[in-house]
Amino acid sequence: MPSSSSAASAAVRTHRQGALLVATISNPPVNALSADVRRGLLQAVEAAEADPEVRALVLAGEGRGFIAGADIREFGKPALPPSLPEVCNRIEASGKPVIAALHGPALGGGLEVAMAAHFRIALADAKLGLPEVQLGLMPGSGGTQRAPRLMGLKPALDLMLSGRHMGAQEALEAGLVDRIAEGSQAEAAGVAYAQYLLASRAAIRRAGDSPLAADIEAARATLKEIAADTAKKSRGLFSPLKIVEAVEAGLDLPFAEALWNERRLFLQCIDSPQRAGLIHAFFAEREVVKAPETRAAKPRQVASVGVIGGGTMGAGIAVAVLDAGLSVTMVERDEPSLARGRANVEKVYDGLVQKGRMTAEARAAVLARFGGSTGYAALSGTDLVIEAVFEDIEVKKAVFAELDRVCKPGAVLATNTSYLDIDAIAASISRPQDVIGLHFFSPANIMKLLEIVVPSKVSADVVATAFELAKKLKKVPVRAGVCDGFIGNRILAKYRQAADYLVEDGASPYDVDEAVRAFGYPMGPFQVSDLAGGDIGWATRKRKAATRDPRARYVQIADRICERGWFGQKTGRGWYLYPQGARAGTPDPEVLAIIDAERQRAGVKPRKFSAEEIVRRYMAAMINEGANVVREGIALRPLDVDVTFLYGYGFPRFRGGPMKYADSIGLDRVLADIREFAQEDPLFWQPSPLLVELVTQGRNFDSLNHPAD
Ligand code: COA
Ligand code: NAD
Repeated sequence: MPSSSSAASAAVRTHRQGALLVATISNPPVNALSADVRRGLLQAVEAAEADPEVRALVLAGEGRGFIAGADIREFGKPALPPSLPEVCNRIEASGKPVIAALHGPALGGGLEVAMAAHFRIALADAKLGLPEVQLGLMPGSGGTQRAPRLMGLKPALDLMLSGRHMGAQEALEAGLVDRIAEGSQAEAAGVAYAQYLLASRAAIRRAGDSPLAADIEAARATLKEIAADTAKKSRGLFSPLKIVEAVEAGLDLPFAEALWNERRLFLQCIDSPQRAGLIHAFFAEREVVKAPETRAAKPRQVASVGVIGGGTMGAGIAVAVLDAGLSVTMVERDEPSLARGRANVEKVYDGLVQKGRMTAEARAAVLARFGGSTGYAALSGTDLVIEAVFEDIEVKKAVFAELDRVCKPGAVLATNTSYLDIDAIAASISRPQDVIGLHFFSPANIMKLLEIVVPSKVSADVVATAFELAKKLKKVPVRAGVCDGFIGNRILAKYRQAADYLVEDGASPYDVDEAVRAFGYPMGPFQVSDLAGGDIGWATRKRKAATRDPRARYVQIADRICERGWFGQKTGRGWYLYPQGARAGTPDPEVLAIIDAERQRAGVKPRKFSAEEIVRRYMAAMINEGANVVREGIALRPLDVDVTFLYGYGFPRFRGGPMKYADSIGLDRVLADIREFAQEDPLFWQPSPLLVELVTQGRNFDSLNHPAD
């Protein structure tokens, strides 16, 4: 006998209520299905069946929700019995009705438990979903078989392939729950529903008793379409097609065999490196918010925000802040610039109204919280100010002098600088303790990443305020230290350089972009440059020209392109051609000719690079600088580098981030690559001392993510 004979579960309590046995799941914070919960559920079903006085079993969650799914921390480790499929099958097989009462999250394995039950009632706040696909997985405890039976093939596949959450009302309409209950007590609602079912002598309904689809041939045709669409959209992801495969098998196989088949495919997903990458990303993005200052200090109150500059970033930041329900005062240098800034903000909302995603009234209500001025006095009562003027330290210092003069004591003074020394900006005013970096990414109202750059004199409550603001803006914050480019742009500078070297040495920019896309990025670096505008990088290169190490290799190809006014999409050509405002570029023979000429000027004999070698160099440059950033404390841990790249630089999530990727291929291999490349250019390819140290000690980056373990 398996687990049923073992000790009582502490995570599932049972009590009798009349003819009902009520099982309460209690495994804070989210009632994840740890072994103890699984065991408790199994024991509850067995207890209900064994007791002649019990006529039905009610399952309900305590605290925030029903069950948020499998315990994600258990994946990849040896599983303790009973398995979740065993639990679900036992629930479904029960000879006494089982009623699941849902509130809050009923996700993944949680929804699978509910679908195995015979009846489902949900409170209005219930969130139902099968989000396994977002972790590189698929439902593995009957979800691929029971969901289509309860809600139909297409809606079930949509739920499983998108991983989205469904509200109670939608779930009712979809057939996933039988009833919605008023009130806030799931257990009480479950008990009342169970009593009703007993009184009305409702017969047990098992999802597994019905066929997966009524019309098998029509279902086969639908699945064929969905499979083709999934193959196109999922771009190299492993688990989406496994989901389709599992459902398809259910058309032909008896239910029990279809469940075995699902489990087999689920285990393939568990073994895939994508699962490891995606689960790393899940926990990493929850870790980054726990910066030391957020534990040490309470945030200051922020209701009103000032934004200096209404250009690309200022306007985007203003929209992000308005969207969070706060009020914004924009300050520009003169009336025409202010009008442009205002127009930049309005344009975003006009677009939403046009697309039918916002009503005209809602637009007016948001813009009622937006004001502008050409004078700093307008900021005298503002709680937090974000400066987004030109990237010039003198211009920024002048702005901060004004802020120092007018802002109320305790106002947080932030800069959106991409590279400049925030310590120097802070030191230039009388209140360095209030100065911090809030580095948004373009477009600031869309991009999720917010680097919170912590200068040496800033007080902890200002840092805590920045993290609190990030939460309000629904951004993913990463704590960074002050250096040229902070975490993201500093590392970007290195791998961009590696890409430039590849091009001068013989790869075309199109080869590089293609290899990087094949790795999983949505775009390659030269496409990104064309999208952002080549002039931005050009300005930075000119600014840094005086301080560049004269011994360092410098590739001039990008400069030759910019000198022609080819800045990318906005000028119709850059690295690519964009005829008639096309969004997708086509290769440009003239660019290739410029590259050839530059190779000759630099005396480089071009050679061929395979896609694999391109990626090896590109990633080695990224990982090596990532290691330096961690070593210098610019990033708190490797996982902060990972989250930065996942949310700000398009790094493929299924690889977990550059540092996780490095661990997955082995740090010794990365170091060997760097040493090999160093034979050509020892100045550029200097192994990070941290990388060397970890390899020597036989450790990986992840060992630095959990120093207390
Ligand atoms: N297994 C283990 N831990 C989990 C978990 C799970 N399924 N779901 C959440 N947690 C942990 C989080 O890591 C976090 O831990 P921390 O406080 O130590 O950082 C804590 O529970 C709270 O989660 P959080 O996401 O911060 O809370 P929230 O209220 O914003 O969201 C959920 C709650 C359930 C919606 C969200 O956590 C979620 O989507 N979880 C994953 C659900 C899922 O994918 N289930 C299928 C698994 S195959
Ligand atoms: P931009 O040129 O589009 O806008 C700058 C705005 O600042 C202009 O509207 C200008 O009129 C205004 N301005 C200049 N001096 C001013 C002053 N003294 N007082 C008030 N307003 C003034 O530039 P941008 O791209 O929005 O960049 C702004 C800042 O954001 C820079 O520090 C840049 O490095 C940083 N940044 C840019 C990006 C990006 O992708 N563009 C990304 C992250 C950070």
